[in-house]
Amino acid sequence: MSIDFKSSKATTKDNHLYTKFTYENSLVEKDADGKIHVTPTAVDYEFKLDLTVPKVGLLLVGLGGNNGTTLVGSILANKHGISFENKEGVVKPNYYGSVTQSSTVKIGVDKQGNDVYAPFNAIVPFVNPNDLVVDGWDISGLTLDQAMKRAKVLDVTLQKQLYPYLEDKKPMESIYYPDFIAANQGTRADNVFNKNEAGELTTGDKWKDVEKIRQDIRDFKAKNKLDKVIVLWTANTERYADVLPKVNDTADNLLESIKSSHDEIAPSTIFAVASILEKVPYINGSPQNTFVPGVIELAEKHKSFIGGDDFKSGQTKIKSVLAQFLVDAGIKPISIASYNHLGNNDGYNLSAPQQFRSKEISKQSVVDDMIESNEILYNKESGDKVDHCIVIKYLPAVGDSKVAMDEYYSELMLGGHNKISIHNVCEDSLLATPLIIDLVVVSEFLSRVNYKKVDEGEYHDFYAVLTLLSYWLKAPLSRPGFKPINGLNKQRQALENLLRLLVGLPINNELRFEERLV
Ligand code: NAI
Repeated sequence: MSIDFKSSKATTKDNHLYTKFTYENSLVEKDADGKIHVTPTAVDYEFKLDLTVPKVGLLLVGLGGNNGTTLVGSILANKHGISFENKEGVVKPNYYGSVTQSSTVKIGVDKQGNDVYAPFNAIVPFVNPNDLVVDGWDISGLTLDQAMKRAKVLDVTLQKQLYPYLEDKKPMESIYYPDFIAANQGTRADNVFNKNEAGELTTGDKWKDVEKIRQDIRDFKAKNKLDKVIVLWTANTERYADVLPKVNDTADNLLESIKSSHDEIAPSTIFAVASILEKVPYINGSPQNTFVPGVIELAEKHKSFIGGDDFKSGQTKIKSVLAQFLVDAGIKPISIASYNHLGNNDGYNLSAPQQFRSKEISKQSVVDDMIESNEILYNKESGDKVDHCIVIKYLPAVGDSKVAMDEYYSELMLGGHNKISIHNVCEDSLLATPLIIDLVVVSEFLSRVNYKKVDEGEYHDFYAVLTLLSYWLKAPLSRPGFKPINGLNKQRQALENLLRLLVGLPINNELRFEERLV
């Protein structure tokens, strides 16, 4: 779809889109008497978007897992137009569940005042996922056809058509530090390069591991003649790394700790550091705290993009909508009980206490900003907390069809109560894979956006932590000093408004004066 945006605020020159935008906000201050003062603010910016879509490579850590193989399979099916038959009929390939590929954005109203929508990816040029060159690492050396079979996600009739594309594709060897993922994953680890001369596993030369990953990134880029590479972690959930002074608290300490092969340096830290040093965006789809302060500082220093943590695919996505709805409706959730059972390898890994703990922390914080937003409901006198409990159990029989059961218990007017129970079957990898596509497509796009204040000479990149990716992430990493935004609607609004401002449209409002004013 081609759209002609006729805004006087946007001009195109040398395949770049230049747009003027006034960022309006309001500054809120409380004086000594507790009175609140709100002052409108406005800053004039000029944005610059490179309209050339580059050739992009995606390197997945965990390529041979359920998400990894589902991603590769779905791109192949879409790229080659592979349909397949199941008991309901013929299924054509699609990217349902992906905001960039399957959702729309309101671009205005028609002459009658009715809303008009356009595909999200028609507003500005985005990379087409079918054009992504995908490779990656896995500690399991199974070829991707067999790994896809092991995952038990895609329909068998589709799998059979995909085998010829995948049977000779083996993931690159990876890093295995047994202390970080569950012991039950040990039998999978047959494709590992951190070994000594005698062929035994070693965690004794972590800097060499960084250099090997850096080399892999460079080789992949050169071999496929790529303009850009993005690295994304969709490997097993690791345990939390201890954040320790002089170890991983600053960029310099972190680099020193890798060089001395400190115990608290996880494989995901190695991948993140290698990506930052290669200046390729690194996205964390799992809950562990890869982004310790030292990693964030390193990304800031190298002006390299990072984003995380933990894909927001099923239960948490609903929570980030439902809790927001309840609080915004003036209803007070007082407890949320969340039970999950799942039978895939992710669930097997999460059945170990330390890995479960990473997931628990990531799922826990999702309602924090909603509670903080409403002092009428949440205060010292009437209680300022939600009892929030998370349980995850491994149940092999249900495979990748994770079951999430949630009970929201809320306080109503004058002592009344409301209980909402949700039973949600989340086909895990079919929900997560479109998120991977969005995270990659949007990260690449954000790396083509520059901005400056009107009176400045030089354009800048976005800040290193790409918080615009929060929509897809359970525990959004924020810039140090800022609180994360979890509410799904706010997250989506930010994305839509960025697109709108770049093409010179006003940011979204739902005033609908065409209808409401006489
Ligand atoms: P999976 O267990 O099927 O795949 C993970 C893969 O990573 C395995 O093939 C494993 O061999 C590999 N691996 C482990 N350590 C590695 C290392 N150091 N280097 C390279 N490869 C390594 O898991 P699945 O279902 O694909 O999920 C992947 C991650 O995404 C998990 O951490 C999970 O918690 C997270 N996640 C998944 C969601 C979903 O599927 N809906 C939602 C939110 C997060």
